[in-house]
Amino acid sequence: MERYTNLLIICLISLYFIKPCYSQFQFISEYCIDTNGNYTANSTYHNNLKFMLSSLTAQANLSLFNNDTVGEGFDQTYGLFMCRGDLSVTQCHDCVVEASTTILKKCPTEQEAVVWFNQCMVRYANYYIFSLFKEAPMVYAWSSQNVSDPETFGEIYSKAVDDLIMQSAYNTSSLGYATGQANVTLGVNVKDV
Ligand SMILES: *[C@@H]1O[C@H](CO)[C@@H](O)[C@H](O)[C@H]1NC(C)=O
Ligand SMILES: *[C@@H]1O[C@H](CO)[C@@H](O)[C@H](O)[C@H]1NC(C)=O
Ligand SMILES: *[C@@H]1O[C@H](CO)[C@@H](O)[C@H](O)[C@H]1NC(C)=O
Ligand SMILES: *[C@@H]1O[C@H](CO)[C@@H](O)[C@H](O)[C@H]1NC(C)=O
Ligand SMILES: *[C@@H]1O[C@H](CO)[C@@H](O)[C@H](O)[C@H]1NC(C)=O
Ligand SMILES: *[C@@H]1O[C@H](CO)[C@@H](O)[C@H](O)[C@H]1NC(C)=O
Ligand SMILES: *[C@@H]1O[C@H](CO)[C@@H](O)[C@H](O)[C@H]1NC(C)=O
Repeated sequence: MERYTNLLIICLISLYFIKPCYSQFQFISEYCIDTNGNYTANSTYHNNLKFMLSSLTAQANLSLFNNDTVGEGFDQTYGLFMCRGDLSVTQCHDCVVEASTTILKKCPTEQEAVVWFNQCMVRYANYYIFSLFKEAPMVYAWSSQNVSDPETFGEIYSKAVDDLIMQSAYNTSSLGYATGQANVTLGVNVKDV
């Protein structure tokens, strides 16, 4: 009996120390871009990249967005991270750790890459990428639910999204992030309700 009690205590202690093996961050997708070149394992570029990602990770403890540049000449790398505006810096740090590890695994040779999680993104390239307007690469997603009155839905949707665009783009305290709510009727013909 005592043996089982000891075993139980050991199990409980292990449970306390072992972190859950599932992630709190949802991976969305990545792009590995080799149009500007590949690098080899342990090259100067690779080391600069690893150094930059760990420096970005440290900065994610302090703010939800930052950029960094490491190296010189052909081996220079430019990187940035951005966390969702409702995250704490601790969550941001943890998300950037996971995103950095993921991107190096998924894109082990490409000099340019971007990874999106639901909660944060990490991006780097061997050329200047900061404050440049870029629409590609991009990811999009849609709801699997249908609307019965697309016209009414479209009006409500446009108004709601226009509000969010104004808030996220022009309100400097919004950190490029905004949420909103609008009521629509799904699955039934709104003319009938
Ligand atoms: C990078 O490597 C990939 C796969 O090995 C190759 O197809 C591609 O042409 C390379 N890109 C450059 C710019 O050399
Ligand atoms: C790169 O360096 C690591 C650690 O020093 C080593 O384990 C690995 O074999 C090296 N890889 C190559 C391709 O040289
Ligand atoms: C960032 O914060 C985490 C958790 O709060 C901590 O474990 C880590 O040492 C910090 N890293 C740096 C570079 O400050
Ligand atoms: C971060 O980006 C800004 C432009 O948005 C740039 O002026 C600055 O030099 C960058 N910082 C680093 C460390 O690369
Ligand atoms: C939405 O409509 C499409 C096309 O009519 C249909 O194939 C799909 O099953 C519908 N989805 C749902 C969740 O009802
Ligand atoms: C700007 O954003 C902040 C934080 O989200 C919010 O508290 C504030 O009401 C917003 N200001 C305007 C004018 O919408
Ligand atoms: C949507 O409906 C709910 C419940 O009726 C209500 O509490 C909420 O204020 C409505 N939201 C908007 C944006 O109209």
